[in-house]
Amino acid sequence: MTADPPPTDPSPRHPPPPRERLLAALRASLADGTFVKLVFARPRGSGSLRRIDARRILLRSVPHLSFVRHYPTRDETSNAPLPAAIADAEALIGAPFQSVHLFTRDTEWQLRLGKRGSAHLTTSALAAPAGAAGEAHDRGRHRLVDPGRPFLHELGVTTAAGQVVPSMAKKYRQIDKFVELFAGAVGGALLATDLRVVDFGAGKGYLTFAVHDWLLASGSTMDVAGVERRADLVADGNARVERLGLRGLRFVQGEVATWPPGSLDVLIALHACDVATDHALHLGVRSGARVILCAPCCHKEVRPQLQPPAPLQAVLRHGVHLEREATLLTDGLRALLLEAAGYDVQVFEFVPIEHTAKNTMLLARRRAAPRAAEGPLAEVAALKAFYGVRELTLERLLAGGGGGGDGRVR
Ligand SMILES: C[S@@+](CC[C@H](N)C(=O)[O-])C[C@H]1O[C@@H](n2cnc3c(N)ncnc32)[C@H](O)[C@@H]1O
Repeated sequence: MTADPPPTDPSPRHPPPPRERLLAALRASLADGTFVKLVFARPRGSGSLRRIDARRILLRSVPHLSFVRHYPTRDETSNAPLPAAIADAEALIGAPFQSVHLFTRDTEWQLRLGKRGSAHLTTSALAAPAGAAGEAHDRGRHRLVDPGRPFLHELGVTTAAGQVVPSMAKKYRQIDKFVELFAGAVGGALLATDLRVVDFGAGKGYLTFAVHDWLLASGSTMDVAGVERRADLVADGNARVERLGLRGLRFVQGEVATWPPGSLDVLIALHACDVATDHALHLGVRSGARVILCAPCCHKEVRPQLQPPAPLQAVLRHGVHLEREATLLTDGLRALLLEAAGYDVQVFEFVPIEHTAKNTMLLARRRAAPRAAEGPLAEVAALKAFYGVRELTLERLLAGGGGGGDGRVR
């Protein structure tokens, strides 16, 4: 630990006061993307405010600081765009807190404030975040999900001190990446409404909790539901919701293939096995979801049907090629069918392949004005004819056909 360092001071003889140096470090970290969080702790007096945490979020693609005021029985969140947020932070430094901590990616700055106006600034170098060693692509990346968020500890992703558990580092990065995608997809006008989100095949609820937490920090009101077939996971999820004192989040036991359509803003389905993905997509379309975020799992429907024409047979006689071709074709056809149903669709890798081979994401946003379905439907028909595919669950469901498939999510 170093006492009163002068790194931001061009004139060591007359260093700016500690408060100014902390604010300069805050501004610099927000500007260069190294800011992690700001914490106001140890309040003086008998008030019930215990602590204030501030972290960076994007609202309608604009950087903000989200201030969470912690009281014994509730939290209060307020957001401010960066210039105003820095002014708010400056005002809070004058408020009756005995210490202010600024965490940047590699340094903790601690400002200790005495009763009679004295101020003392120290810095400590922080160890590299758990799991970060050797991962060059992660360096310099700003994370939206603060490892100090209570839900992460509740789910076993972080320690009580807010450090990522090494064996959960990939999961943490997957959660963070997913929140980044979610934030980009629902930004703008969508956030202004009470958002209804359903996560199909929620499992332990990593993403369900993360999405709820992000919406909470964004000041939205929301109804987030994790639909899961396993009763034990549903009970665990709801017990966690209760322990964390959360509102607007629940886990419900249900089957993706038979879940009744309802009014919905965002549908999430990560790793719904085989045609369960198609049932989830169909439900999203029928429910008028404005955004669908779907990472398919295994693909079993198209592969046994593939009868490629002669030139391709020489390539696809190898099982590994056939498998990849079937995967590519299945997700390509799904994207076209969603386009025909009134969505703009992007298909991309959402986490590095070493995290999971099932890393393809379909992001579909409902178009404001409908466009003719004939074009994409003609492309679907041409591809089916080319590869000899006869049956597509999503096509049948969207055309008004009944269920089918086992609806399993793995
Ligand atoms: C691979 S996990 C994925 C969990 C979560 N989506 C994630 O990405 O972290 C799939 C979950 O879906 C659940 N599931 C399987 N079939 C289902 C169905 N038909 N309806 C609802 N949930 C299902 C499983 O019990 C399992 O917990």
